[in-house]
Amino acid sequence: MKIAIIGSGDVGQALAKGLVNLNHKVMIGTRDTSKKDLKWVKKHKSKLQLGSFAEAADFGEIAILAVAWHAAENVLAIIRPELSGKIVVDVTNPLTYDENGTPELVFGHDISAGELVQQTLADSHVVKTLNTINYKNMVKPKYKDGSPVMFMCGNNQSAKNHISDMLSEMGWSNIQDIGGIEKSRLLEPLCLLWIEYGVLNKTWDHSFSVLEK
Ligand SMILES: NC(=O)c1ccc[n+]([C@@H]2O[C@H](COP(=O)([O-])OP(=O)(O)OC[C@H]3O[C@@H](n4cnc5c(N)ncnc54)[C@H](OP(=O)(O)O)[C@@H]3O)[C@@H](O)[C@H]2O)c1
Repeated sequence: MKIAIIGSGDVGQALAKGLVNLNHKVMIGTRDTSKKDLKWVKKHKSKLQLGSFAEAADFGEIAILAVAWHAAENVLAIIRPELSGKIVVDVTNPLTYDENGTPELVFGHDISAGELVQQTLADSHVVKTLNTINYKNMVKPKYKDGSPVMFMCGNNQSAKNHISDMLSEMGWSNIQDIGGIEKSRLLEPLCLLWIEYGVLNKTWDHSFSVLEK
């Protein structure tokens, strides 16, 4: 499948590597295709390309949105036409940082990034997922004690089925569809809890799991 990754940060690069290794064709969208930390892309040139945000969005049959939240509004305005009718996976967290570098949500409770992305991309099918895990563990997550859970939400069932298949291919075995895109209001604060746990326990490799008796 041809997949657009809108964003060339840690998440965009990790997903690009993982998806190329799973034999997908990927284009990473960025403002600067000559960035030093994207040099490795050349090694995979038959399956991995670089382009502008709009070129990547046009290339992908599905797209993954992985940009800093403060840039999302502008980036979405650029790529909206190219994403019409397509599935868009929203990995973003709407974070801002206080003067001590502590992350906070820009908003929550009554609106979420997932919903705003869906409102902006009214002709696309937005699925929120992968926002509660470190980029290093998004593909082939391996944990010694049990299986991590990956939540997802979105308004279009067929889009969620498709992304559930993609997550399975990426190594996720416990995928939980928690409902419509408004459930992003639950998933985005979960990212702050994930960060809090990481700071307290000095780890960035943890993930959420749900136990049933
Ligand atoms: N890091 C994680 O482990 C993790 C885990 C889950 C979710 N997330 C979320 O995933 C998203 C991506 O995170 P990240 O850590 O990969 O990197 P990031 O630093 O949050 O975002 C990097 C991307 O944002 C773009 N960007 C930044 N400022 C911009 C601007 N003014 N205009 C246009 N584009 C701009 C960059 O564009 P260029 O390509 O042009 O540089 C780059 O593609 C974020 O929303 C983050 O909260 C991160």
